[in-house]
Formats: sequence, structure tokens, C-alpha cells
Amino acid sequence: MEFNELIRARYSCKKYDSRPVDRQALSAILEAGRLAPTARNAQVQRIYVLESEEALAKFDEASPCRYGAPTVLVVAYYVNDAYVYPSGTMDSGAEDAAIVATHLMLAAKNEGVESCWLNKIEPEKLAASLNLPDSEKVVLALDLGYAAEDAGPLPNHFKRKDLSETTFYL
Ligand SMILES: Cc1cc2nc3c(=O)[nH]c(=O)nc-3n(C[C@H](O)[C@H](O)[C@H](O)COP(=O)(O)O)c2cc1C
Repeated sequence: MEFNELIRARYSCKKYDSRPVDRQALSAILEAGRLAPTARNAQVQRIYVLESEEALAKFDEASPCRYGAPTVLVVAYYVNDAYVYPSGTMDSGAEDAAIVATHLMLAAKNEGVESCWLNKIEPEKLAASLNLPDSEKVVLALDLGYAAEDAGPLPNHFKRKDLSETTFYL
């Protein structure tokens, strides 16, 4: 899909049907995440693909926002190698996870797969139930699937602020 068309067509899907995500499409989505830039190119992202009944049940315990999606990508990062800001007070792990997730989300649309970015999750609970190592921090999750027949963008999708409200030339 042409880029300008793609960023206009993407929306947060909040109702999926039961069709599993096509394997080739999933591979292309994950590959797009692999190519994302990260600080120092440290590639600290860790992507967990949840598709089994057991894994999805664990996800449902930690978030109300699966909306019937057959696949959930949990995006975490490896804390011990994330770039530390010069101030020493924060690292770039959440940024790295976010840029990777943005690639995943846009690639999904390009593959005809709908998505919804989620932070209404309990990261620690999810990490524990999925047995993730202590060295990894969960940042967000991404539902993936095909839109149910009556699904579509919610009204707020169409409410974007004017550029002048969010962009300032100094
Ligand atoms: C950082 C972030 C966190 C979000 N968390 C959730 C969430 O937990 N649950 C949910 O249903 N939608 C979530 N969304 C989806 C937003 O509500 C949605 O992107 C926004 O309302 C604009 O709609 P659109 O994506 O259809 O354009 C999140 C989106 C972003 C970018």
C-alpha cells in the first residue's frame, strides 16, 4: 500500500473475527519490526507472539483489550543493554519498543491485518505470567487480526487536532 494511503487507512480495530493471522503476513510484520531503528542499534526489543489458548488467556488476565484478536504481540525490552541517557536517569527502552511497535503496526496494515496498540495492560503481571526474565520490561501490546464485519474506526479516529495546535516553528 502506498505510504500516504496506509497512514490514512490505519485505525485501531476493537472487534476482530476469528480468522487466524496469515503466516506470511505475520512474518512480514515481524520483519518490519526487525528493521526498526533503535538507540545505538542495540535492538533491545523482545517481541512475544501470543497465539495459543493458554498464552491468550494469560493476556486476558492482564488486559481487557484483546477484542477477540487471535494474535497479540507483547513488546518488551532487554533492560541491561538499553541506551542510558547522559543524565543517567532513564534509558531508551520504551522509545525503542515504541518505534519497533510502530513498524509492526504499519506493516500490519500493509498486509491487510488490523491492529490496536495497547497500554491498558498490567505489565508486571503479564511478564510474570508469561515467565519473562527479570531483565525484560514489558512496554505495550499490539492486537493483530482481521476486522469483524461490523468493526471500523471509532468516532475519535477522525478527530485529529490541527497542525497549528501541536506544531510550533521557533
Ligand atoms: C500509546 C497508545 C496506547 C493505547 N492504548 C490503548 C488501549 O490500552 N486500549 C485501546 O483500546 N486502545 C488503545 N490505544 C488506541 C487509541 O485509543 C487510538 O489510537 C486513538 O484513539 C486514535 O484512534 P485511531 O488509532 O483509530 O486513529 C492506544 C494507542 C496508543 C498510541
